[in-house]
Amino acid sequence: MKALLESLQPGERDWDLAQAIDPARLPAHIAIIMDGNGRWAGRRRLPRVAGHKAGIGPVRSTVETCARLGVKVLTLYAFSVENWKRPRAEVETLWRLLRYYLKQELPDLQKNDIRLQAIGRLDALPTQVRRELDAAVDATAANRGLLVNLAINYGGRAEIVDAVNAILEMAQLDGSIGSLKLDEDLIATNLYTASCPDPDLLIRTSGEMRISNFLLWQIAYSELYVTETLWPDFTRTDLLEAVLEYQKRDRRYGGLSAPVNGDAQATDETFVVALRSS
Ligand code: IPE
Ligand code: IPE
Ligand code: MG
Repeated sequence: MKALLESLQPGERDWDLAQAIDPARLPAHIAIIMDGNGRWAGRRRLPRVAGHKAGIGPVRSTVETCARLGVKVLTLYAFSVENWKRPRAEVETLWRLLRYYLKQELPDLQKNDIRLQAIGRLDALPTQVRRELDAAVDATAANRGLLVNLAINYGGRAEIVDAVNAILEMAQLDGSIGSLKLDEDLIATNLYTASCPDPDLLIRTSGEMRISNFLLWQIAYSELYVTETLWPDFTRTDLLEAVLEYQKRDRRYGGLSAPVNGDAQATDETFVVALRSS
């Protein structure tokens, strides 16, 4: 938070937004469905891949802002298991851009103590992409600042299936399969995101009101924020606005809000008095 303010000028709009954020109630984990690259390009009569290229800048700035804010985990949806349905040339461009991003950003990730992790069915990636991804993950493994999860060939259902299969395999190996009983903890600790808290805030750009198979298990109680902004236009200002909106939410987890001035109690008593007199 301090690092963010130090990078801004008083009087700037983002300075005001940053000042309004309560550092004690930051989302520990932000997840983003980076959507709208194709539409961004279409509006400019450019090929879809131009939109993907323009989406790299916002990835860079979002990572930087999250690190400066003091967010612990940022999970970015970069490629879904369903995205293979797209034309081969588009998919290949996405791999090229991922390799470009890794090469370009690695020095800054190191400098800023950012750890990179990839989540998804990575075995299906082209060999060279996989190799460079693994190298970037290994190179940043000891960093202790922001953790960036890149969701690549990721599907929420696939993740749950993989978790259950991993549990079965383990139980088979250690002979406990006969008495195996699943519970929420066992599943959660076998997801790709095992080491992370669940997302507090899930952002989707480009206005689509759907989850598209992202983090199905982990978002049970995440706060959702959908903006019309297309991903290539997503700026630091958009991110700070999302965090401010998140801080206005009343997270009840199925319970009740904290009573304001003994409200809850007063309501109960009023109800009892009303019952007696009826
Ligand atoms: C998101 O932008 C990037 C990926 C899914 C890889 P899209 O490519 O989905 O853009 P739209 O939704 O078609 O505008
Ligand atoms: C979700 O966007 C996947 C990513 C952002 C990587 P899509 O564009 O693939 O989702 P749908 O098809 O609109 O649901
Ligand atoms: Mg899309």
